[in-house]
Amino acid sequence: MSRLVYVLNGPNLNLLGKRQPDIYGRETLADVERDCRALATELRLDIRFHQSNREYEIVDWIHEARETAGAVVINPAAFTHTSVAILDALNAFEGPVIEVHISNVHKREAFRHHSFVSLRADGVIAGFGTQGYGLALRRVARLLDDAKA
Ligand code: DQA
Repeated sequence: MSRLVYVLNGPNLNLLGKRQPDIYGRETLADVERDCRALATELRLDIRFHQSNREYEIVDWIHEARETAGAVVINPAAFTHTSVAILDALNAFEGPVIEVHISNVHKREAFRHHSFVSLRADGVIAGFGTQGYGLALRRVARLLDDAKA
């Protein structure tokens, strides 16, 4: 399986580090991308790292991943709780999918407790801060190694 991993980020995550730092921390999305790239090198993964506030762009990246990538790590942000389109796109993707939330969504408002994406995700990470992205990449590397063995 391809060792290319799409790391996808949904709406408002472009404001990471500035937006509600008490909930999401002070690290920016650029910091997260830098850390993901460093870890990917260590894990022998290639990554495509994207963020969008537009649902269709995330759907399109998942379609692209379908052609080229071995795994998807996705923080769908608010689309987690609303998007059948992103769920359908992920259902058309065959490799491992890991869902990441920076905050512990289960400790928050009831509307954040339901995730459409969790119906497809092979694993869910929530409440580990931005460290969750690295944990997701480590899991993906293990799954891709196991698939090869
Ligand atoms: C989030 C949690 C979502 O409920 C929220 O809409 C986000 C970020 C997280 O990373 O904790 O934008 O996905």
